[in-house]
Amino acid sequence: MAVRDISKDLPVIDLDIFRTGPLDSPAVIQECEKAATALIIYGALVLHDSRVSDDDNSTFLDLMEDYFNQPEAELKKDERPELSYQVGVTLENTEKPKCAVDESCLRIIEALEPAERPLDISGHSPDPKCRFFWKMGENPPYKTEFPSLNAPNVIPQADFLSKRWPIIMEQWGTCMKNAVADLADMVALGLGLSADTFRQAGRFGPHLLAPTASDLVKYGQADTILAGFHSDLNFLTIHGRSRYPGLNIWARNTGKRIPVRILEGNYLLVQAGKQLEHITGGLIKAGYHEVVVNEQTLAAIERRKHSFPDRPLIRISSTFFWHLSSDYDLVPIPPLSEKARVLRAEKAKDGIPDGDVVEYRPMKVGEQVRNELKHIALMA
Ligand SMILES: [Fe+2]
Repeated sequence: MAVRDISKDLPVIDLDIFRTGPLDSPAVIQECEKAATALIIYGALVLHDSRVSDDDNSTFLDLMEDYFNQPEAELKKDERPELSYQVGVTLENTEKPKCAVDESCLRIIEALEPAERPLDISGHSPDPKCRFFWKMGENPPYKTEFPSLNAPNVIPQADFLSKRWPIIMEQWGTCMKNAVADLADMVALGLGLSADTFRQAGRFGPHLLAPTASDLVKYGQADTILAGFHSDLNFLTIHGRSRYPGLNIWARNTGKRIPVRILEGNYLLVQAGKQLEHITGGLIKAGYHEVVVNEQTLAAIERRKHSFPDRPLIRISSTFFWHLSSDYDLVPIPPLSEKARVLRAEKAKDGIPDGDVVEYRPMKVGEQVRNELKHIALMA
């Protein structure tokens, strides 16, 4: 499978234009509309933000490799199953890809050309990936209905990690959080809403810096599924560059699997999650993705073994989940629902499949998150 340059497939949105220009300038309005359209058409975009540095990403990736290279008994001390793993570590083979038992998701796979389908998840085995959740949200000043989604952070105990851990997590997490929250403003403007619509709705969201780790010594064989086909339950997901390729995304209207290769420099990948799908009444749909070991992953493993023989062979995905506040009433915004209906009717007229009709029932964001966690086996 040839690697395509993702910038050729996905629109590149320049956050610098938004940050430096007045909100009513034609250049800003155009860039915001481009961001909203990118999410409507593809469910994903590439974001350029000159504040994000490759060095910060590298420092973060080094810390994560050191952390996940510890013995399992040490990692287990950071597990919080009683909090549905929403802070601290989740060890491998815990989380299951929901799609394997979700009828409408399986129909999405069936509608793809066989060559464009994800690796087979029908066994419903849990993913062989570990993850750490570092909360980056502000605690709500009111009594929340969902305290387990707003629990305090876990700091690893080992001396060689504990001192630098909070500094590096906050440094990289803040870069990602600022970038994604600014993009949320751009998308709101581009959809014809006031700029702070989503920022306010996510003001007390349990945002998470959420690196995942895959042991490439154990799971480095071709066609191994590291994270099975799924979409994310939060509002927007942002990824920094990984040292190993393997992330594939499916852009909503293309039916094509796109191998992601984030450009070097100040580029990030953003995907829409289910909270954004819900609040837009399906105008923007959550983007599907998987992480697998492919030829490019194998080539990167060989290069890394040669260049850094003393470093752990662990694939870190530099991911941040931006959430709406748990107590926020998740209700589709009427003009966006109407646009979604029109878009769906147009697609039906052109014979383009667009997944099952979904009813976006009003609910608290915390309830939506709980429902999703039950499906992926993180909550009893
Ligand atoms: Fe994901």
